Amino acid sequence: MPAFARGLAYSIRQRFRDVLPILVFAVTLTIAYALMQRNVGTAYRKRTQVTMFFFVFMAVGIVQRSRQATQQPFEPVLATAKAGIGTAAIVDYDFVCDELVGVSQRGLQASVKVDRGALPPDKGESTRAPLVRSNFAATLRCAACGEALAIAGHAGSGAVFEGALTCPCGAGFPVIAGVPRILPIATAATLVDQHPVFFQRFPALRPPSANGARTDSLHTLRAFGDEWQRFPELLEVHQGIFDWYFEGPEPLRWRGLKVLDAGCGMGRWLHFARKAGAEIVGMDVSVAIDVAAARASDGADFVQADLRYPPFAPESFDLVYSLGVVHHLEEPMAGVRALAKLVRPGGELRLYVYRTLDDEPRWKRLLFVAVTLLRHVTTRLPYPAVHAVSWFVAATATALFLWPRRLLRRWAWGDRLTRGLPLVHYADVPFRMVVSEQFDRLVAPIEGRFRRDEVERWLRDVGFEVVAVLPGLGWRAIGRRPVVTATPAA
Ligand SMILES: C[S@@+](CC[C@H](N)C(=O)[O-])C[C@H]1O[C@@H](n2cnc3c(N)ncnc32)[C@H](O)[C@@H]1O
Ligand SMILES: [Zn+2]
Repeated sequence: MPAFARGLAYSIRQRFRDVLPILVFAVTLTIAYALMQRNVGTAYRKRTQVTMFFFVFMAVGIVQRSRQATQQPFEPVLATAKAGIGTAAIVDYDFVCDELVGVSQRGLQASVKVDRGALPPDKGESTRAPLVRSNFAATLRCAACGEALAIAGHAGSGAVFEGALTCPCGAGFPVIAGVPRILPIATAATLVDQHPVFFQRFPALRPPSANGARTDSLHTLRAFGDEWQRFPELLEVHQGIFDWYFEGPEPLRWRGLKVLDAGCGMGRWLHFARKAGAEIVGMDVSVAIDVAAARASDGADFVQADLRYPPFAPESFDLVYSLGVVHHLEEPMAGVRALAKLVRPGGELRLYVYRTLDDEPRWKRLLFVAVTLLRHVTTRLPYPAVHAVSWFVAATATALFLWPRRLLRRWAWGDRLTRGLPLVHYADVPFRMVVSEQFDRLVAPIEGRFRRDEVERWLRDVGFEVVAVLPGLGWRAIGRRPVVTATPAA
């Protein structure tokens, strides 16, 4: 009962508008049934639907409680930095820093410079504060006008934990917890919910609330923000999947490449790109960026931004990749166009997108229809309930398909028998990842699927050569921006 109450309260607070249609549907069903039976008592006896909701909310409550027990909020990052730096001035926002840098014209009271060296020794991935390096800040551009941004009142070369980036056009963008947040108006208001204390201290930086914002974008942002806070772990299997994503006619030489991971989520792929020697920037529209940035040992730079309005100058990167992202946009081409502009001549754009199931057997297409129907419900459920459904799907798939696959594939006949079973590509990944992959499918409000020729057309339409479109669960597309050769003088 306490779990039910907690779950109900959470759902009402967080997602009531989304849950309401399901509740109304279930209650209507029950009443309609009672009317058909001409017996009001039937509604009472046919309590299954109501009981089902009891269990859904109870599951929400249980997941919420276990989350609260294990969650590491980002506030302690501040506390760690505070404890480690020690000596210098205390600025108005109760934070110890080594230098008070300045006062901006836009009403921001102070910005803080913190050198990486001043931070306490790394006590593990999640406790180290991310910082904006000043040479990374110099590469950022205004989302409104494209001009270079300056860190308010900060002339030095150190790194910034908190402050503002300002543009000559008058726009200002907050730097919160070591990450610049350069969001378009449609989604910038979400920052206020995520960082209320910051905006109480710096009201001048509070983004205007966006009336008429595209709800799909907001829904996508919230769903994935929740997903990557829920499933933040890097796993050993990720290395193999990273290698698979970046297969191509030529092996990729990462060392020294300037790379953008667009829609980086919790940063699992950029971790390996960085390890392979790339100079990498992670960009994501959701709070997933904080999960990625908290893994400061990766040594990457991060920005919270929408890939359709990327805060970088054209041709800034040798390689831009975006894995599993553009098929979640209302208009994937808007994303492809914006990302293509960031690639230097001779550089590459790599995309991973879901593919259509035209060439799959009938039973797989039917299964897909069933999952699509299920998604109609799950995309409206509170996230802990989606977690519970994902766990259930993963457990069922493990018992029915993954274990038989693991057991039988050593024999040729067993391999043939189990090869085509649903989800067997997860046969060798930990259970938690099977759950997170189900969550990913069930929570995303938009899921586009594309044919090979459509993906090739995207690349051609932005003037890229199609290097390869490799098959798999989805398409791994590689496009190259042609090097424009100078016209010889007459
Ligand atoms: C399915 S997840 C994939 C994350 C990561 N690429 C991975 O494979 O682990 C999709 C990610 O794209 C991000 N995303 C969705 N729309 C975006 C947008 N318009 N701009 C930037 N990121 C976006 C989401 O926040 C989410 O983290
Ligand atoms: Zn501007």
